[in-house]
Amino acid sequence: ASTPAPAAEDSFQQELRKANAEIIRENYVQALRSFNTLIQHYADEPLAHLGHARLLERLAEKERSNQRLWQAIDAYKRYLAFGELVASDGEFLSAGERCIQHLRFMGYHQQSVNIHELLIERLPADPRLRNQLSFTHLTANNMRQVKLVAAETLKLWPDDPVAQLHFGLAIKQLHGDYEQALPYLQNAIESKAEGTQEGYFYLALGETLQRLYRQQEAVEVHRQGVARGLIPSVYQRSLYNEPQLRAQPFWQPSETGYASQLRKLQENWMSIREEALSLLSHRGYFADETENLRHKGIWQQFELFAKGQLHGKNCQRAPITCGLMKAFPESSGCRRGQVKFSVMQAETHVWPHCGPTNCRLRAHLTLVAPEPEQTSLRVAEREITWREGELIIFDDSFEHEVWHNGTRPRLVLIIDMWHPDLTATQRRTLTAI
Ligand code: LMR
Ligand code: MN
Repeated sequence: ASTPAPAAEDSFQQELRKANAEIIRENYVQALRSFNTLIQHYADEPLAHLGHARLLERLAEKERSNQRLWQAIDAYKRYLAFGELVASDGEFLSAGERCIQHLRFMGYHQQSVNIHELLIERLPADPRLRNQLSFTHLTANNMRQVKLVAAETLKLWPDDPVAQLHFGLAIKQLHGDYEQALPYLQNAIESKAEGTQEGYFYLALGETLQRLYRQQEAVEVHRQGVARGLIPSVYQRSLYNEPQLRAQPFWQPSETGYASQLRKLQENWMSIREEALSLLSHRGYFADETENLRHKGIWQQFELFAKGQLHGKNCQRAPITCGLMKAFPESSGCRRGQVKFSVMQAETHVWPHCGPTNCRLRAHLTLVAPEPEQTSLRVAEREITWREGELIIFDDSFEHEVWHNGTRPRLVLIIDMWHPDLTATQRRTLTAI
């Protein structure tokens, strides 16, 4: 206040205040005009671009417009490009974080990484910025990068719980090294630090313990996840859930409301089997399970529908089954499930696991099962086996585990269907999984 500001700055401040006042009065058309003028006349004033960015992101929300959101992102980038010329760390940081949030939302992973790096460069002593970067890599399932960034962070801050968590998740997923991952995951989650209390992290720790055969401790972790409202129950551990759906491990056809559709499929089980067997004789048609659920053995699938969409090429190769499934839209159109052939070779074990959502039920139409005594499907606390021509219906959001201790392959058609308690609106609007 003691030294008079130059006149140019004075009028800039004045015009900026006026433009911001238009935002507060929700005079968006006028505000936009004011900011356009401002950034023309004062292109080298960082605050002109910051105000512009904030206005544009508000408009993007109001108009639900991605084009506006891109304009906001660009304005934020122009502001951030001033770097050292921006006086306030706090404002620089929060602008960077908003920009990252928008880029993530638009799915622009690499661009958000660039902004993260800009923030880290400016504030190298803040581990949270590095954790935010590894989190961005985590959401893009870029586990090599997660490991790299988290390892760097741990070099400087070995006790940082979020970096420990990210590092543990990375080595679990990249190397399947559960021994090494465990202390990182355990430490992090027990710390209850911000950024460590997500359902997904509890599941990762529980799974790590299960794969080390420390079942009691796994149950305890899952119990804590339930107590903290992160997962539905110790046995039902899906993360994408709708409230108030009936939840039980096994279902009878009559309970599903789809009895007639299921009967129709069952009546055709031998022609479905013919088709599946001829597909199996082609090398390369079936693809390995890719979710790291196999402990040992061979387990492959041939997908007909996924996320409610038909797999064109595969359906051409399986016209009979696909035709039958098209007449069952509650299954083939289920955006939270799949329809697929699933073949399991002898000497296979699938680790205990849960599906991602409580919004579907899963049926197996058993096509080939020569050794029912040597195979087993456990869902929650009950074990059953496959019998040719028969249907098994279970809710795969409940923990399940599979053994094949026989000598010959087992083949089923997996048929996911919308949970019968979902309304028509939910079936129409739920996001695909
Ligand atoms: C599963 O859904 O995890 C398994 O039951 C699939 C299969 O082929 O047994
Ligand atoms: Mn499963």
